[in-house]
Amino acid sequence: MSGRLVTLEGGEGAGKSTVLAAVQARLLERGIDVVVTREPGGTAFGEAVRALVLDPARPELCAESELLLMFAARAQLVRELIAPALAAGRWVLSDRYTDASYAYQGGGRGQPVARIAELEAWAAPIQPDLTLLLDLPVAQGLARAAGRGAPDRIERENGDFFERVRAAYRARAAAEPARFRVIDSSQPVEAVRTAACAAIDAFVDAQEARA
Ligand SMILES: Nc1ncnc2c1ncn2[C@@H]1O[C@H](COP(=O)(O)OP(=O)(O)O)[C@@H](O)[C@H]1O
Ligand SMILES: [Mg+2]
Repeated sequence: MSGRLVTLEGGEGAGKSTVLAAVQARLLERGIDVVVTREPGGTAFGEAVRALVLDPARPELCAESELLLMFAARAQLVRELIAPALAAGRWVLSDRYTDASYAYQGGGRGQPVARIAELEAWAAPIQPDLTLLLDLPVAQGLARAAGRGAPDRIERENGDFFERVRAAYRARAAAEPARFRVIDSSQPVEAVRTAACAAIDAFVDAQEARA
């Protein structure tokens, strides 16, 4: 079977990092060699960009710079890690990817969707094969994220910002139902893990049937 790109998306405190290990373990159980990464980051350059864009001491960062930095890190991730892994037949599991730019820089910051699509086509032309969207009410996600410690620059945004992020994610999922699986992550951790692993199983089954 050739490689596939699987992404985890969702707002702050949705549980992406929490379910990642379970999803990775399920792929391994299915005999799939998986490379795990995250955004922004995933490469040495990208992690340096992550530190910049999430630095709460940089409130002056404008929306345009934020969008370009996200794509700068992503362009590097695609070329250094995602494309080579897929070419080698490995699967890639990423904690966030391009949908996050549509949600945060598009929905949250109001950057034009057409501009994001241009950047995507040029800098990050590899589309995910499967995206698990962990969805929950904004207040619940923020309450969970608050338990993690000092908020980063983006986590310091207000509730309206995160409502726009959530709406943009849900709109993308509704527009591309074949790629997205929306998981109710307001459930207890075990139920969210079970739902995520069930989505992975169904996807792997479908890929095996195709092969
Ligand atoms: N389903 C859940 N129910 C309750 N708490 C959760 C759940 N999923 C995650 N958490 C907790 O919420 C916090 C944020 O989860 P995390 O996985 O870091 O979210 P994300 O990576 O999506 O921002 C963590 O402290 C985690 O332990
Ligand atoms: Mg996380």
